[in-house]
Amino acid sequence: AQAQQTVKIGLIAPMTGPQAAAGRQMVAGAKLYMALNGNKAGGKTVELIVKDDTGVADITRRLAQELIVNDKVAVITGFGLTPLALAVGPVITQAKVPAVIMVAGTAAITGTSPYFVRISFTLPQQTIPSALWAAENGIKSVVSLVADYGPGIDAQDAFKKKFEEKGGKVLEQLRAPLLNPDYAPFLQRAKDLKPDALMLFVPAPQAGALMRQVMDRGFPQAGIKVIGPGDAFDDEQLNAMGDGVIGSVTSYNYSAAHDSPENKKFVTEFKKANDNVRPNLIGLGGYDGLHAIYAALEKTKGETDGPKLLEAFKGLTWTSPRGPVTIDPQTREPIQNIYIRKVERKDGELYHIEFATYPNQKTP
Ligand code: DHB
Repeated sequence: AQAQQTVKIGLIAPMTGPQAAAGRQMVAGAKLYMALNGNKAGGKTVELIVKDDTGVADITRRLAQELIVNDKVAVITGFGLTPLALAVGPVITQAKVPAVIMVAGTAAITGTSPYFVRISFTLPQQTIPSALWAAENGIKSVVSLVADYGPGIDAQDAFKKKFEEKGGKVLEQLRAPLLNPDYAPFLQRAKDLKPDALMLFVPAPQAGALMRQVMDRGFPQAGIKVIGPGDAFDDEQLNAMGDGVIGSVTSYNYSAAHDSPENKKFVTEFKKANDNVRPNLIGLGGYDGLHAIYAALEKTKGETDGPKLLEAFKGLTWTSPRGPVTIDPQTREPIQNIYIRKVERKDGELYHIEFATYPNQKTP
């Protein structure tokens, strides 16, 4: 009887290796949610089991299997990178165990298993408002540079389609390798093409490395605006990017400067618990992922049968630190506001200050 009073949640995250910054944010967000909300949901005691996949998809798959078979977790969560989420699709389908995606943003992931639920975002959802904003604000030509894998290709394709529909021209679509990228030749090519703007996507942990090179090459000084979804302008690393990034306009679901009581509390408590590190959308994913799991368990009154728990995620709606979120019951994707923001200095620090909202955006 004792065991049945506990619900186990398996969180798989890259805690070491090149994506470790994503793991740190995700786990910090998840633990903060539990610290602030207690360890009870649906009348049961919640136990969080954290596993390090080191950012390697084969390890993510093996850990998912072990968590389901040996630990008997009711739900798995995490997934700091698209290939890590894709690796568990067949495992969760066969075991009928829901998997809550806290970060991975390639649109196609949720179509690969009916047991995926995404609380985070997709790259088309994040990027389309950037394309609209650019087309409506005097930007006529763009070169895009993305990390060469699912979310980068999604961002590039979504941007080009919407921007060209609105009369803009994408001069060239450049793709740099995900692992150990040398951005120099791509940035040189982009600068030679003299576009009005450079559109960027890399996974958030790689933002600082890319942006330092973009700034060293003087894109803003050459009159080339630097735009895109917010990943390459990551909130955790924004202060280290230097003043060249001031004025950049991007589109995103979350800014640490989002003006709401829920976000003020989240940012204050996150910094307090993590040596003053600012949360980014990955930390937010950890926090909101735990919220969604608690809310689903409340709905089932602690029942952990896989298909019943999966149903409970569909249609969940809550006020997140990012604003209102609903899990679309048809697609299992988040419906949320996407904000247009500009980098400004405020109280001595750089922040993404939101100034326009595309409300209740679905993933296209
Ligand atoms: C993905 C990872 C990120 O860190 C991010 O900011 C966006 C997308 C991904 O791999 O899907």
